[in-house]
Amino acid sequence: MSIISKDIQQAAKLLSNDQLVAIPTETVYGLAGNIYSEKAVKLIFETKKRPFFNPLIVHIPSIDALESIVSHIPEKARLLADAFWPGSMTMVLKKQTCIPDLITAGKNTVAVRVPKHPITLELLKALSFPLAAPSANPFGSISPTKPEHVERYFKDTIGQVLDGGPCANGIESTIIGFEGNEPVIYRLGALAIEDIEAVVGKVAIRNKKEISPDAPGMLDRHYAPTTQTFLTDNISEVIRIHGGKRIGILVFKTEVNDASVTSQIILSKEGDLSEAASKLYDAMHDLDRQELDLIIAEQFPDYGLGKSINDRLKRATFRS
Ligand code: TXA
Ligand code: MG
Repeated sequence: MSIISKDIQQAAKLLSNDQLVAIPTETVYGLAGNIYSEKAVKLIFETKKRPFFNPLIVHIPSIDALESIVSHIPEKARLLADAFWPGSMTMVLKKQTCIPDLITAGKNTVAVRVPKHPITLELLKALSFPLAAPSANPFGSISPTKPEHVERYFKDTIGQVLDGGPCANGIESTIIGFEGNEPVIYRLGALAIEDIEAVVGKVAIRNKKEISPDAPGMLDRHYAPTTQTFLTDNISEVIRIHGGKRIGILVFKTEVNDASVTSQIILSKEGDLSEAASKLYDAMHDLDRQELDLIIAEQFPDYGLGKSINDRLKRATFRS
């Protein structure tokens, strides 16, 4: 029997009983548990096979709940929350003492966001506790943007995937930390840097080693298909090098005309970066299931969501 269901009350019941439920958000599906249940939070790490030193994002129903999670809200954090919540932005702020160490991996900061999905907002409002939710994929693999992706990963280990359809934005939230009272980008994501800068002025992008070498979204190899994947700005050249193999192609807007290509996905024929981002992981899941010898992905333009897509593609292709 499928574990995919639209039953919000069942989800609330499972979560109130220390169980896990995969929840829809506008970015990707999350693997959710009660932040105050040690049992549920441990189960999140176990189910994902995620190392305990990697902290989780706390999901709250509204900006009003922020003060119960964080102890200090810098002026620019307030501006960002007002501008983008509910939405695809996570902020890392000083935590309240009530936030368990398991959630924050012992740090004195906590990552928090108000997701923008009507079903999950309804669920969060019905619960008396916030939800910890990392992306609902095994550690290091491609994040899920459809209920079926989660079901394939976890049908034997979790009780329910709360069905909210395909995720509208399709890549993870943009994570913003603070140095003193100044925002800095920790992880590129579904909210474009240009939109953030329109609200708070120029922001720096910190590379992973400056923040935390072990943060999973920041690892060199992450979001990765099992099929060997290449990222290039010269697809024909890489096709030529791998002649005779079963090749899958992932491109932005322009079809590659080459008879030796086995499978090809065009992310947005109109050249719309939001559409491309929303389809990216589904295309990666799809190509990864076709028993190809390799996947060749095209480099995106380096602005707006193109920057975030390139970040994910780079990590998908990294081989150490
Ligand atoms: O869109 C999203 O953000 C999705 C949905 C489900 O909300 N969640 C998600 O969670 O992508 P996850 O666990 O896959 O990525 C969370 C990232 C990790 O890289 C983690 O290291 C970082 O957030 N993080 C969490 N708490 C942090 C903290 N206190 N300081 C720095 N980084 C933190
Ligand atoms: Mg993740």
